[in-house]
Amino acid sequence: MTFDKHGVLEMTSLNYEPNRPKAANPIKIQDLSFRDGHQSLFATRGRTEDMISVAEMMDEIGFHSVEMWGGATFDVMHRFLNEDPFERIRTLKKYMKKTPFSMLLRGQNLVGYRNYADDVVKTFVQRAVDNGIDIFRCFDALNDFRNFETAAKIVKKNDKHFQGTICYSLTEPRMGGEVYNIDYYLDKAKQLEEFGVDSICIKDMAGLVAPYDAYNLVKALKKQTNIPIHLHTHFTSGLADLALLKAIEAGVDIVDTCIGPYAYRTSHPAVEPLVTTLYGTNRDTGFDIVKLVEISKEMEKIVPKYMHLLDNTKLSVIDSNVILHQTPGGMLSNLVNQLRQMNALDKLDKVFETIPKVRKDLGMVPLVTPTSQIVGIQTVNNVLFDEFEGEYKQITEQVKDLCYGLYGKTTCGINPEVQKKALKDYPRGEQPITSRPGDVLEPELDKIKKEFSDLAKDIDDELICALYPVTGKRFLKWKYGLEAIPEDVKPKTMEQVEKEKAIIEKALTGKLTEKGDSDIPSNARAFDVFVEGEVFKIHIADSNSKSGVKKGRKEKKITQVDEGSIVAPIPGMIVEYKKKIGDTVKAGETVIVLEAMKMFNNLESKVDGIVREIKYESGNSVAKGDVLCVISKE
Ligand code: CO
Repeated sequence: MTFDKHGVLEMTSLNYEPNRPKAANPIKIQDLSFRDGHQSLFATRGRTEDMISVAEMMDEIGFHSVEMWGGATFDVMHRFLNEDPFERIRTLKKYMKKTPFSMLLRGQNLVGYRNYADDVVKTFVQRAVDNGIDIFRCFDALNDFRNFETAAKIVKKNDKHFQGTICYSLTEPRMGGEVYNIDYYLDKAKQLEEFGVDSICIKDMAGLVAPYDAYNLVKALKKQTNIPIHLHTHFTSGLADLALLKAIEAGVDIVDTCIGPYAYRTSHPAVEPLVTTLYGTNRDTGFDIVKLVEISKEMEKIVPKYMHLLDNTKLSVIDSNVILHQTPGGMLSNLVNQLRQMNALDKLDKVFETIPKVRKDLGMVPLVTPTSQIVGIQTVNNVLFDEFEGEYKQITEQVKDLCYGLYGKTTCGINPEVQKKALKDYPRGEQPITSRPGDVLEPELDKIKKEFSDLAKDIDDELICALYPVTGKRFLKWKYGLEAIPEDVKPKTMEQVEKEKAIIEKALTGKLTEKGDSDIPSNARAFDVFVEGEVFKIHIADSNSKSGVKKGRKEKKITQVDEGSIVAPIPGMIVEYKKKIGDTVKAGETVIVLEAMKMFNNLESKVDGIVREIKYESGNSVAKGDVLCVISKE
């Protein structure tokens, strides 16, 4: 690495040609458009068909790798898009034969939200390899690398690339302080080197890394180790382009970017300006800017299908608040959605104020999936249900697991009072463990194979059920034609996008009339359309242009609730009923498990009695205040 007398990178070529001489030490680029890009901007709703349109062009750029799987993709695909997650790898591989495929693996959490048993981990990683993943970016939310052991064995056995990841976390605006200082990261990197990783990723999921911290950190890491260093950061706070550039000056080997349309906001820096910035220097990417512009143009054509998912309530594309509250973008939008559904958006400031306290109680963990959800939803529960600070009235099952040690070792100690409360009557025991979590988890796969034997046709189907028993089962029913595919999981066509646009225009000019449910044709397809902050439920008939419109806010439910009824305290999905009609229950006994924001909440009976009515079944979505079951005294 050389600098000229002005301190900027030395220019080795001024020739703006695609076939310019190769740089001495070209920066390697991983593209994230197919995974983290649409996950950050469009709630992971990107469909395979919309990736195919640019896949071959992407393959020609010369990316070090393309991240296209893992993270939330697996969950969203089978839950909301009716797509087989494994199929996406195979399909894209047909169009991209040169560029290695990379996935984001949450260590022992795989692509779910809890630690799975070793047999599930081994099988899942093997199937990811078999389906076409080349590089495994493996992270653990607690930076407890014991959670890499099982996954790494399988990656290595298959001669694939194992990237060890350090989650970048802060407790103040810049690197330093008592916990997340440079020594913390150097120590973690040393652990990874001893572990035998092929490369080290600094994963800055919230976009917190300041440019000079990135410089100092990469410099120090390059001095300490010869293992390639990869920087992943988000644009959220607006620091990312500067951080990447300083990291490149410090000698970082690989950085993550997106193609223009999928870049910025809570996503990542765009590749195009970086290519121009480094053009002709000794770190020149060598990429053809014209080809990148063509991809960008092609992507813009499909973007209208996703625009309704973009948070465009603000003009600003940066959120400097993230530096203050250190909340990753995904967690932020989850919290806002959750509070909105509960009509408690006014509590958002209180939630932000409480997050650092809950985080500290729970061992000052980094905030990344799943710990960001664990801390986030527990904070929401505390703000909504606690009568005094630190009460922890409604503790989620995941917080209990964290307190038990089932996620691994937290960065700092857990507040003993909270831990004691969480582990009261905890089924595995009230004494937390210190061993590798995988060591205490009983094998799971045989049970899953039996349970889903009539539905799952191969090992990939079984894995979908192992990771997501409720939504996985529903997906397999769609996949094998056993259940009608709901309209809202079917892909949108450009024609539908145009129709919706026309309806929004009509609504804005007051040309839409409100109709009751009975006027809506039976073949109508329902959409939620947002017009100037108001939610409209729009029904479009498939065969004709007759449309019904209903204002979402006007829907109200009035239900009689008696003492024995169990009511949904928060909106969510029923995971299971622990009791059947006719069963006897005691006050305090768990009757229903409700999933909200991926966290499980056990709902208990308030009375001794008999289950008289069960209103829903596993997999149903329920709103706040819905009566889920009725228990009456004998
Ligand atoms: Co990310």
